[in-house]
Amino acid sequence: MIVVAIVSAKGGVGKSTIAANLAVALSRHARTVLAVDLDPQNALHLHLGGTPQDIGGLSRASVAGTAWSDACTRAASGVRVLPFGQINETDLPTLERRIADDPHWLATQLHSLNLPDDAVVILDTPPGVSNTLRQVLAAADLVISVVLADAASYATLPQIDNLIRRHHRARPGSVEPVCIVNQVDVASRLSREALQLIEGVLGQRVLGRVRADRAVSEALAHGQTVVESSQDSAGHQDLMECADRVLQLLPSRRPQAEQQAEPQAQTTQERQEPQTPTTVVLGDEDRRPDRQTAQRSRKAGVYRLMAVLLFAVLVLLIVLWIRTR
Ligand SMILES: Nc1ncnc2c1ncn2[C@@H]1O[C@H](COP(=O)(O)OP(=O)(O)O)[C@@H](O)[C@H]1O
Ligand SMILES: [Mg+2]
Repeated sequence: MIVVAIVSAKGGVGKSTIAANLAVALSRHARTVLAVDLDPQNALHLHLGGTPQDIGGLSRASVAGTAWSDACTRAASGVRVLPFGQINETDLPTLERRIADDPHWLATQLHSLNLPDDAVVILDTPPGVSNTLRQVLAAADLVISVVLADAASYATLPQIDNLIRRHHRARPGSVEPVCIVNQVDVASRLSREALQLIEGVLGQRVLGRVRADRAVSEALAHGQTVVESSQDSAGHQDLMECADRVLQLLPSRRPQAEQQAEPQAQTTQERQEPQTPTTVVLGDEDRRPDRQTAQRSRKAGVYRLMAVLLFAVLVLLIVLWIRTR
């Protein structure tokens, strides 16, 4: 399973739109794709053809302790969808407490789905900083932030970049976080300049840009993604290009066994030293230099011992040689 997270500092920038379109586009490459909505606003399943009446989802399953797999549905496009679902006011704090108390809540739930190694899980997230977002960043193999081509989004770049760098664990096979600039208005000089500024800061990390296109919101009104409809629209072309680039970036499959080992490894660290959510994620990185130093000093000890033994043998040979003369 390969986990792709769609994140942003602000709401309304097009995260759910991009998550849904990438999910449909990637599912055309014969991949099992599961789109997971972690945002209580529940927009993702609407993009994928669900109706507002659908009330099941991961929130209720998590509170009731039932399997996430039972709450999955399948969209007409073939994408599997796990909506956040509707949850009452007493259950929401219970769910939030559960997420806050268990730093591995998301990783454990995703693992319990037993998806094929090359399945792609796309996580749509609520905007801003939250315990959910921290877990998303820790679980993701590829993080895609979405920004608008405007001055306000440009100003939030360092904020979201720092957050990603603090919580996204670089693990073998994972790739640099990337960014999609959405709703670029090619007719507006301001929008074009904002895009240039963002490209100036992020360089190669701008995965692509998606033009502002009415076809995108029209598709949503029909419960579809623009990738499924309006083939010659700008939105369709841009989102297909982004999907192709995501496909090139996707880390090779991560065996389930490796993923299963991760929460355990973190738990062990936490037992050694109580940590805040921030240091849970940073722990691995932080300890790496210590482990290297310990290995180096062990090697140096072995070399010292060998040198002493060689010296002793040499002295013995010299003494024997003197005696025999
Ligand atoms: N490239 C685009 N062109 C036109 N409208 C867009 C584009 N991207 C998103 N939208 C519209 O913007 C609104 C917010 O998008 P949404 O994906 O729900 O944002 P978020 O998930 O970040 O809150 C939706 O009405 C969507 O149709
Ligand atoms: Mg959304």
